[in-house]
Amino acid sequence: MEIIKTNVAIIGSGPAGLLLGQLLYKAGIDHIIIEQRSAEYVASRIRAGILEQVSVDLLKQAGVVQNLNQKGLPHSGIEILTNGQKHRVDLSALTNGKQVTVYGQTEVTKDLMQAREQANLTSFYESNNVQVFDFYEKPKVTFESQGKTYQVECDFIAGCDGYHGVCRASIPQDKIKTFEKVYPFGWLGVLADVPPVADELIYVQSERGFALCSMRSETRSRYYLQVPLTDKVENWSDEKFWEELKNRLDPESREHLVTGASIEKSIAPLRSFVTEPMRFGKLFLAGDAAHIVPPTGAKGLNLAASDIAYLSSALIEYYKNGSEQGIQEYSEKCLKRVWKAERFSWWMTHLLHRFENESEFDHKIKQAELSYILGSIAGQTTLAENYVGLPYEIKPFGNFKQAS
Ligand code: APR
Ligand code: PHB
Repeated sequence: MEIIKTNVAIIGSGPAGLLLGQLLYKAGIDHIIIEQRSAEYVASRIRAGILEQVSVDLLKQAGVVQNLNQKGLPHSGIEILTNGQKHRVDLSALTNGKQVTVYGQTEVTKDLMQAREQANLTSFYESNNVQVFDFYEKPKVTFESQGKTYQVECDFIAGCDGYHGVCRASIPQDKIKTFEKVYPFGWLGVLADVPPVADELIYVQSERGFALCSMRSETRSRYYLQVPLTDKVENWSDEKFWEELKNRLDPESREHLVTGASIEKSIAPLRSFVTEPMRFGKLFLAGDAAHIVPPTGAKGLNLAASDIAYLSSALIEYYKNGSEQGIQEYSEKCLKRVWKAERFSWWMTHLLHRFENESEFDHKIKQAELSYILGSIAGQTTLAENYVGLPYEIKPFGNFKQAS
């Protein structure tokens, strides 16, 4: 067995693990990443694509914004289509000039992987049988990679291994509490090399169910349809997808919609999930390992980024001046922001989707709520300030720009 000694063992090479690695590297803190999948698999996963300003700032801090600056599309508003009519929510006007950036999570992942490669940092891809031990005392990680068995001795373990990871699963039952809500539908997503139907995202509430018109670039679009959980992707030909999307759109958008062959098509279930706390001795959970949001509010990646802002700051503080304050406060600080994003994502999901068992009364109330939100500056402001991202509670870094 080969022994590796390092400061921080990061489990998982998704955006959370990669971003943490890059920020630790910038601060001169030794770490390794252990990932069960191949690098190619990680770099090709298709996920969401909206970055809050604070997430962009953090990527800047990590020194990986070259492509983002070139290809990211700043958006200052979104459209909400209800009752066949589009309403623009002017995010910037309602939030003192804040905006979001359309940039695929796949691209964020690739940029971070490339920066990691350039800096010659250690990552073990295709690792098997990853196990974490003794995280209340002297943390250890064991794993197998390319026929060798390793034991990592470290100060801290960062559990950035997603919803199905090993870190959360290794925590004793009496030390952890989880909160969950599963929704009775999924999102069927299609990626296609066609120009987006409009300049801004359109969130569609219709009698036939929710739809979302998003994009990755001026020539690549990402569309979603609410579908029953029982639906199979094989039952959705491209033709059927486009036809159903058109059925949920307004006449103008229907006319502008450019259809084409799909590059990717998949169904994702919707879930809200939170783990409390997010630190167990010297093991931290971050990103999807600790919480899941339904994608309606575009918060998944951004929450992973804010966890990493707090975690990297806590670790940097610890290694620079021996202070454990950030470590002690990590869980509480993250969870405050997490629950607010959970609330927003749940609310957007509830408001815009069609629920099968909804009574007519509940449906009418929802329509009235949407009509109120869109017809009131106060209502639109509450949506906008959540959508662009709530500010961090503290400045996670000395030179880190706060959201407000
Ligand atoms: N050992 C090592 N790696 C593991 C293990 C394990 N036992 N289990 C899972 N992993 C890896 C996965 O293969 C994946 O690459 O951990 C990584 C977790 O990455 P993500 O699932 O992308 O999670 P995270 O980095 O927290 O990113 C959050 O992803 O799902 C979206 O909406 C979410 O945008 C958010 C973002
Ligand atoms: C996406 O582009 O994939 C996307 C955008 C906004 C969301 C969810 C997904 O709310």
